[in-house]
Amino acid sequence: MNYNSSMVEGKKILVVGLANKYSIAAAITKSLHKNGAQLGFSYQNERFEKFITEFSKENGGGFTQVCDLANDDDIKKLIATAKKEWGQIDGIVHSVGFAPADQISGNIEDCITREGFKITHDVSSYSFSALLKEAHPFMSDNSSAITLTYVGSQEATPNYNVMGMAKASLEASVRYFASTLGSKGIRVNSISAGPIKTLAASGIKGFKSMLNKHGVSTPLARNITAEEVGNTATFLLSDMSSGITGQTIYVDGGYNIQAISFD
Ligand SMILES: NC(=O)c1ccc[n+]([C@@H]2O[C@H](COP(=O)([O-])OP(=O)(O)OC[C@H]3O[C@@H](n4cnc5c(N)ncnc54)[C@H](O)[C@@H]3O)[C@@H](O)[C@H]2O)c1
Repeated sequence: MNYNSSMVEGKKILVVGLANKYSIAAAITKSLHKNGAQLGFSYQNERFEKFITEFSKENGGGFTQVCDLANDDDIKKLIATAKKEWGQIDGIVHSVGFAPADQISGNIEDCITREGFKITHDVSSYSFSALLKEAHPFMSDNSSAITLTYVGSQEATPNYNVMGMAKASLEASVRYFASTLGSKGIRVNSISAGPIKTLAASGIKGFKSMLNKHGVSTPLARNITAEEVGNTATFLLSDMSSGITGQTIYVDGGYNIQAISFD
């Protein structure tokens, strides 16, 4: 295996999950671009097209393509474009989550529905499986895929509800894909990020209180930044992390290690 010595120089990485400049995917893109990656982008629908076009120009000018991850044909077309543009894919960033607003507001017994469960799991968990299923034949034998998760998968968190279940499923999918794709040289990991103010996060009822509680309860005594997540993503997409697969890497200021915060 030929390891590249610089961080992600020349690696061809697909970024899925950009909505605006506050998206975690935007901070990941900036870090990857700074460290030499060649990037391609997808966006959910035309509402985001103008932003993505500009954002791509500022970060290397790679291809942009619409892709609704709830649609298998769109996923096929996205991977076909990446293959046409690059031949092989060296990395995938999946930074996507969605739950209908009524599912992430209030006590679970009052708001969970079959339809809400289906949509949340489809977009927030299955979409990562769907991407890897389609992309893996075209991934290089020294490649890496990452997704974004939250500690609400492991610990009950007010209002997070069915999103916590979907994140648990997403983290399990990371372990399954890592197990079978590892021998092909494809690594699969997730980053469990502390709370960051973004479009998706502001949909969670009480997000501000979540942010405040994390901020004072972490060993680092502060909230983490999107840039810190971006830099960890670059590490996981680089050859520097070549021995790491199937993991949930916490970028949360250490929040997850404490049962009760210390005074
Ligand atoms: N912000 C936080 O506090 C936080 C913490 C931990 C994990 N995360 C996770 O980070 C990831 C990125 O979220 P974010 O906080 O940057 O918010 P964001 O709103 O900027 O990004 C979410 C993205 O998901 C995309 N998306 C939703 N449904 C889609 C669909 N059907 N097809 C294609 N794309 C779709 C949106 O277009 C958007 O680009 C999510 O998985 C989220 O759960 C966020």
